[in-house]
Amino acid sequence: MFADVVRSMDIAAALDVERLREIMAELVERSAAVVQRYGAGKFEYTGDGLMALFGAPVALEDHAFRACLAALAIQEEASRLATEVQRRDGLTLRLRVGLNSGRVIAGELGSGSLGYAATGEPIGFAKRMESVSPPGGVMLSESTARLVENSVRLAEPEWVHIKGAHEPVRAYRLVAIGAREGRLGRAEADLIGRRWEMAAIDALLDRAIGGRGCVVNVMGPAGIGKSRVAREAAAAAARRGFEVFWTFCESHARDVPFGVVSRLLRVGSGVDNVDDGVAREALRAFVSDIDPQDRLLLEDLLGIADPSVPLPQIDPDARRRRLTAVINNVTLARTAPALYIIEDAHWIDAVSESMMVDLLAVIPRTPSMVLITSRPEYDGVLKQVHGDEVIALAALDDSDTANLLAALLGSDPSVGDLSAVIADRAAGNPFFAEEMVREFVQRGVLTGESGQYICRTNVSELSVPVTVQAAIEARIDRLSGPARQTLYAASVIGARFESELLAALSIGAMFDELLSAELIDQVRFTADAEFAFRHPLIRAVAYESQLKSDRAQWHRRLATAIEESEPDSPEENAAIIAEHLQAAGDLHAAYGWHMRAAAWATSRDISAAWRSWERARRIADALPDYDPEQLSMRIAPRTMLCGNAWRVQIDVSGDRFEELRQLCTTTGDKASLAIATAGMVLYQAFKGRIREASRLSSEAWAIAESLGDAALTVGLSFPLTYPKAHAGEYSETLRWSQRCIDLADGDPFLGNFILGSPLSIAYTTRAYARYCLGLRGWQADVRHGLDMARRADTFSYATTVAYVYFPGIPQGVLAADDRAVQEIEDALRIAERSGDDMAVAFSGVILALALVHHHRDPERERGQKLLAEIADILERGQHNLSELRLVDAYLARELARRGDHDDAIRLLFTALDELVREGQLLSWGIPATGVLVETLLDRGAEGDVAKAEAAVERLAAVPAGDELAIREIWLLRMRALLARVRGDDVTYRNLVGEYRAMAETLGYEGHINWAATMGGSGSTH
Ligand SMILES: Nc1ncnc2c1ncn2[C@@H]1O[C@H](COP(=O)(O)OP(=O)(O)O)[C@@H](O)[C@H]1O
Ligand SMILES: [Mg+2]
Repeated sequence: MFADVVRSMDIAAALDVERLREIMAELVERSAAVVQRYGAGKFEYTGDGLMALFGAPVALEDHAFRACLAALAIQEEASRLATEVQRRDGLTLRLRVGLNSGRVIAGELGSGSLGYAATGEPIGFAKRMESVSPPGGVMLSESTARLVENSVRLAEPEWVHIKGAHEPVRAYRLVAIGAREGRLGRAEADLIGRRWEMAAIDALLDRAIGGRGCVVNVMGPAGIGKSRVAREAAAAAARRGFEVFWTFCESHARDVPFGVVSRLLRVGSGVDNVDDGVAREALRAFVSDIDPQDRLLLEDLLGIADPSVPLPQIDPDARRRRLTAVINNVTLARTAPALYIIEDAHWIDAVSESMMVDLLAVIPRTPSMVLITSRPEYDGVLKQVHGDEVIALAALDDSDTANLLAALLGSDPSVGDLSAVIADRAAGNPFFAEEMVREFVQRGVLTGESGQYICRTNVSELSVPVTVQAAIEARIDRLSGPARQTLYAASVIGARFESELLAALSIGAMFDELLSAELIDQVRFTADAEFAFRHPLIRAVAYESQLKSDRAQWHRRLATAIEESEPDSPEENAAIIAEHLQAAGDLHAAYGWHMRAAAWATSRDISAAWRSWERARRIADALPDYDPEQLSMRIAPRTMLCGNAWRVQIDVSGDRFEELRQLCTTTGDKASLAIATAGMVLYQAFKGRIREASRLSSEAWAIAESLGDAALTVGLSFPLTYPKAHAGEYSETLRWSQRCIDLADGDPFLGNFILGSPLSIAYTTRAYARYCLGLRGWQADVRHGLDMARRADTFSYATTVAYVYFPGIPQGVLAADDRAVQEIEDALRIAERSGDDMAVAFSGVILALALVHHHRDPERERGQKLLAEIADILERGQHNLSELRLVDAYLARELARRGDHDDAIRLLFTALDELVREGQLLSWGIPATGVLVETLLDRGAEGDVAKAEAAVERLAAVPAGDELAIREIWLLRMRALLARVRGDDVTYRNLVGEYRAMAETLGYEGHINWAATMGGSGSTH
């Protein structure tokens, strides 16, 4: 790079020598600082201009880009100086800058007395570029332009005539640094040691190119060199043509959901650092053939959604499934090699972490590598990815440490003692070594050029920082007041911070001093510059060394600035705003934002919402008793926690629920108690504890009824009738369904806070109660419920279908015909697109049960497989356990069909024992007993008939308040089968006749079919 003053002779002539000297000295000094910041290897004042060399003596990947940055920064400095010169001297000061790239010979000239220099034709050509540059401009040669064309904006090429060439050559004016983040490594010393680590990474990169990607975990304590290894890996990957994407986890953002995964996807899809509208366009191009709803979900995840377009109404589980599918497809479709780097995974937020696991699963099938750095304390799932490679970084050994210090300090004999002291303290931690060197430089103990220091102090008289924190503290103390303020404010923002946000804090930010003190680096060079702390420990020390009260101030102002930065969608940032306000000690405000964050997350990730409610709860609990809002603030998050416990499967049923009950009783807040209790009902029911669920359900129902709030009662009817139906409490189920139908008064959507259309479910539960009790009208209820649900939302429809067939088919009331299978398959598809994981499993159960009841073999085979899969899912997830018992009964039936009667019977007895224990003999216990009896009779071993008889009698003896038609019809069927086995043909024939007649009277389709196969001959099964 050459820079020269335009018409310097005229300026020289117009000024006195003193003033000329002053101006030139100022220009040279400012330019020197700039080129140093961008890592120039050599800087020289040539008398009337400046020369700087990038990429030598230290080879830098991005030397051309650095030179461009430096050239623009020098022009900026020059124009600042020019304003002053214009004012004071009435003269126009302007620079021309020229850049050229090429091979030069660089090194000590001659004996070394001439110093380091570069020679070669490219040098002269750079000077020529400078001479054709417009005043105030920067001109690039063709060779430089080619190196930077992707990261800067250039004007159209111009043909220029230069001295010594006959033909005109092409030159490009540098307009600006590109919008895309220019990748800029630091100017840093050579990598010391880490040979096998890098060899391992090289080998894995080669394998990844071949399509066998992998996940690499780089682990080690702070400062050991993880990020350095990551940078080296990035450089090695870039050399092989990999695209490299970075993302960073932040220590203060662990409770901010989606941060990391969203950032990684943003850089990966090229929509980072642009306007939301532009980003949406870019995304459209990036993932073109994608379902429009899925695209909305993706935009929302990336934080670039159009706030005026509503999100699809789906459950967070479905959102997660669909996003995972989209992201995996995009990742799998990628044919160009990519390296994803996730830095500091010990600070990853839980939601990103769990989404990353899904992504990592497909990496082995792609030409990509994921490199994750973390400290040893991290024990999360990203470290337990199957088949990942682990690189644990140990401390540098003595000889490596000596080499590192030689590179940092140089080889002057005077630094020998100091080097030994630092080596001893640093204990093989390169960051510690570097920080101590910097500290000694700033203290003036070390003088001279970087890497060629001289030490004039006797080491024995020196105080040496004992810890790396102490070294950093000393460095911060030495900053000027404004620079320290900048550093403090930045440390509150995070490890990376934008100049814009600092400006919003109305700080006159002093970046230059921080940059030259090597406390921060600039990482984005566009107008909205971004900086990063050189190391997370520097941020931590800067943060910790402030007075608490000062820090609180920053947090408070930052919360406001963040809120104002996106006035249209503050909810997106609610979690981070809450964190800042909490750190500021504004507890009421922080509470409010935590609750808002939870509300925002409820439709996105229920565990994220859960965490926000927990944080809100903790704040409320810490409020003093005299706070008038304390009680209501303690109740609200607890209500949500208990109300949603079933969705996250966290047990709050003991003390935590009791605590809420007491709070609600104290304040008379019955609505909250009803909602929380309903949540507990579902929690217990899905855990298979039907008795407890049923008891709680009666409680909640009484509370809801006493409030006289129709919407609340109707809305809760879905969770509350669930255990009643499962417990075989049919009159209760009927009464509550009826009440709900009356209250809703034809409005399908009344009380739709849990399910879109509670009324359609009420029709199906009334149908269920009606047919079990042998009452008329159930067919109309079934039709009515399905019709209404079909017109409501898809998810209500799927649930309604489930509620119709789940009991209907096994109980023998509905036939498992093709139409039913079709309808259930539709419901399953809908559940997969919009329902939670439990709904999907539940729909799977119903499909499986329908298929094993189907009369064709292929369907039955499919059902059998599905049944086994679903049983496995429920078992592993420990949910829908009461359905699992019925699944087990039919799995047993399939076992018996294949001849394994013994295992089948064992399984059936276990399932029935559990049904008895939970008081479900009159619900799933009826068909389960039916299966047991048939299987026993089929096996026909000694005592089997007696066991079958005992099972029948047990079912017959369960007290029930009413006549139970559903039990009666099964008893007829089972007693007929027993009679046949005993050879009592007359009784058999009589019972079959009664059985058929009853089935026909009540319209039980399944039983009608079964009765038909029993004929009158007594020989068919
Ligand atoms: N093997 C090495 N050779 C030279 N410098 C190193 C080496 N390892 C680390 N460093 C330097 O030490 C400092 C701390 O390393 P860094 O990678 O940031 O640590 P970590 O990420 O493990 O906290 C960085 O400035 C880095 O360049
Ligand atoms: Mg690091």
